[in-house]
Amino acid sequence: MAKKKKGLLLSLTVASSIMLAAGCSSDSTGGSGDSGKADGLPAVGATIYKFDDNFMSYVRRAMEDSAKDQANLMLNDSQNDQAKQIEQVDTLIAKGAKSLAINLVDPKAAQTVIDKAKAKDLPVIFFNKEPDAAVMNGYDKAYYVGTTSSESGVIQGELIAKQWEANEAAWDKNGDGKIQYVLLKGEPGHPDAEARTKYAIDTVKGIGIETEELAMDTGMWDATKATEKMDAWLAKYSDQIEFVIANNDGMALGAIASLEKAGYFSGDKFMPVVGVDAIPEALDMIENGKMVGTVLNDAQNQGKATVQLAVNAANGKDVLDGTEWELDEAKAVRVPYVEVTKDNIDVGKNAYK
Ligand code: GAL
Ligand code: CA
Repeated sequence: MAKKKKGLLLSLTVASSIMLAAGCSSDSTGGSGDSGKADGLPAVGATIYKFDDNFMSYVRRAMEDSAKDQANLMLNDSQNDQAKQIEQVDTLIAKGAKSLAINLVDPKAAQTVIDKAKAKDLPVIFFNKEPDAAVMNGYDKAYYVGTTSSESGVIQGELIAKQWEANEAAWDKNGDGKIQYVLLKGEPGHPDAEARTKYAIDTVKGIGIETEELAMDTGMWDATKATEKMDAWLAKYSDQIEFVIANNDGMALGAIASLEKAGYFSGDKFMPVVGVDAIPEALDMIENGKMVGTVLNDAQNQGKATVQLAVNAANGKDVLDGTEWELDEAKAVRVPYVEVTKDNIDVGKNAYK
């Protein structure tokens, strides 16, 4: 199953790079995007901050699956460029989108998107990067689908503490009772990156385990960048490092690649590594003992909820009509995070089926 998915992702990535190379627009609209409706289905305009993001590629796939027979989904790759995304929003509106589903490049750009949507009375479902509450409150047709960011940090912190307590004799290399860690942070200013960084460490400390940060830097959610950081940290701190904490699995995988080059995970050379997302590649690492755990960030349900709300909005219905979701006081649907280790690996596997 996981294998099949990897193949699909790869081909999606290849297809989008080919389109880019050919100078095509990254608009992957099905039917005739120019009218509000194609095949009687409402047009939903969507953007993903960049297709080349591990976790978002699973969200994207869930969106495409959920949109089948429900909407003419016009889905754009914003290529990590906020100016480009704003142009895409203009084009989607011009093409007759009846609602928008927007994964911002920069969470601070929400107001600009809202201004454009408001001018046409279009509902906007932001997802994955949560705009500020004040901005959300300024437009009654703005909603959010995502998670409670802090929850992933708390769960990751509990996981780190539990694993440390069970393995302290082996993992506390300098025997000082403290965890000497390095932390790979996601994109600075991203609510998930900020909250995961803060709450993971606060939770470990709150449980009564002392910590010492050897290094922290952003790997921008990206495996390759994380490998570079980890290479440098290993060169500088070598076996002083006792734990690698990553804000997401992509960066955890990047750190593992670096650790493997340095001889870890063979013989008795080991490094505990944790991430967030529970993407299939990370579940493989948990199964083969190279990651001690992760936190499920439910791509499938977030993609599905985003499309459900956007389709309802496009059809002029209540956004929750016919769904199992609830909105909190911030007009947000929040999909829960779940701790995943070897013991409950199926929780991760089932979520990414
Ligand atoms: C986070 C996810 C990261 C990255 C980011 C993009 O929720 O854990 O892996 O995809 O969203 O905004
Ligand atoms: Ca120590």
